[in-house]
Order: sequence, then structure tokens, then C-alpha cells
Amino acid sequence: MPLLELENLQKDYGGLRAVDDVSLAVAEGAIIGLIGPNGSGKSTLINLIAGSAELSAGRVIFAGEDISALAPDAVFQKGIARGYQEPSLYFKMTALDNVLLPVKGQRGEHPWYAPWRRYWQRDEIKHAEAAAAVLDQVQLRQRFDTLASDLSGGQMKLLEIARCLMGKPRLLLLDEPTAGVAPKLAYDIFRQIARLRDDYGITFLIVEHRLEILFDFADYVYVMHLGNLLAEGGVDEIASDATVREVYFGD
Ligand SMILES: Nc1ncnc2c1ncn2[C@@H]1O[C@H](COP(=O)(O)OP(=O)(O)O)[C@@H](O)[C@H]1O
Ligand SMILES: [Mg+2]
Repeated sequence: MPLLELENLQKDYGGLRAVDDVSLAVAEGAIIGLIGPNGSGKSTLINLIAGSAELSAGRVIFAGEDISALAPDAVFQKGIARGYQEPSLYFKMTALDNVLLPVKGQRGEHPWYAPWRRYWQRDEIKHAEAAAAVLDQVQLRQRFDTLASDLSGGQMKLLEIARCLMGKPRLLLLDEPTAGVAPKLAYDIFRQIARLRDDYGITFLIVEHRLEILFDFADYVYVMHLGNLLAEGGVDEIASDATVREVYFGD
């Protein structure tokens, strides 16, 4: 059974069909690429899976369960975390605090418990340890005290991934994880992604426009064009597919 199955997904924005009858499967432990020209519906597809856009038709099945109607928060609880095309960080906060943000139900924030330190201190220490561990996973631990605004573009992307890891996701949806990152660091980000897959079994669905990097790491690739699935296959197959080359490179 695939970890994620999309069945005939459709998304209409008024008269525009941004996603048109897309079905695909993501195997557990795979790194899956999602490519296609600008405006082909890639980000919309990610939003549909994450619950941040409502489906016009179709079903999203995760670990055998229909999660089509769930809100983003509930999707996250199920084990799907997502990164954004623009890193959505709190730039005036430290790397550590950015990672701690998604932790829910912190007792120290509850007005009843806040005055009684011993009720929440142990929780705080536990959360901080978990946060340090995920910073470690993306090799940002040395930077825990750095303001997000002082990180490099690549480190910001890694910090966003670290924040996703706090939810202990089974599936990570990444929208252009190397956007605006220097080439050497872009490779680095993908190396870290591959390591997270190898060491923790996390599955990745990655929208990426830097094909030369993606093709070094992806197990399988889906190609979108005008809201439709144009092609799918292994890296070699996709790289040499005439239709893909035509819409992608215009040759
Ligand atoms: N919230 C929205 N409202 C209206 N149209 C949208 C919205 N989001 C995306 N679109 C349109 O849907 C199409 C696909 O967009 P998108 O999914 O962002 O493409 P990609 O990520 O592949 O570049 C585009 O024509 C875009 O203008
Ligand atoms: Mg996009």
C-alpha cells in the first residue's frame, strides 16, 4: 500500500482548473519529484494534500485513511508536514524558538499554570531537548541562538525543515526547497533530505525546478502541465521524454 494516494484530484479557481484529474501514488520511504513549468498546478497540488486548499473533486488517501476533508492542523497531526516556497519563519526569533513554535499545549503559556513554574518547567526542558535534536538532524545545532534573519538562504530552508520535523512527520511536502539558494548549498539541502529519508524513513514529495539536482536524488518523478499529469517515471525516463522536454525546455 502506498503511503500517499491521490485519486482524481481537481481544483477550480472560478473558471480556472488549476489541478485537473491528477492521480498519483507515493511509496513509503521514497523521494518523489513533482516538476512542471510555472503555473502548472504544483503548489496547488501541495496545498490540496496539506488541507490548505479545499478540493473541488477527488480524494486524498494517507496511510489508508481518507484525509480529503481535514483542515491543515489535522493533516499535520496525521503525520504530514509541509514547507513553503517562501520560508515562513519568524525572522526576529532565534533558530531554536522558530523550531519550538509548533509545539502545542505548552503549560507555561496557559494562564492557570504559568505562575507555577514547576508544573511546566519539565515540559519546557523536554521540548527544548526535542528542538535541539531536530536542529541536529539538519546540522543547525551550532546555530540555535542565531536570529533566523541572520541565517543564509540555505540555512533558512533547513530551519523550516527542522520545524517540520518537530511534528515527527511520516511525509514531508516541500515546495522548491532550494529556491534562492546557492548551487553548492542546494546540493547540501538535498543531501540532508536523503539522509533524513535514510536515517528516519521519512517520505518526501518535493516540488523542484532545479532538475539537475532533483534528478540526482529522486526515486520517481511526476510531471505536471496545465493542471494535468503529463508524464511519470524514473529519472532517466523523464529526462529523455520528448513531451516533457517540449513543455519544459521548448525543444
Ligand atoms: N488562490 C488562487 N486563486 C486563484 N488562482 C490560483 C490560486 N492559486 C493558484 N492559482 C492559479 O492556479 C494555477 C496553478 O498555480 P500553481 O499551483 O501556483 O502553479 P505552480 O506551483 O506549478 O507554479 C495558476 O494559473 C495560478 O494562477
Ligand atoms: Mg509553485
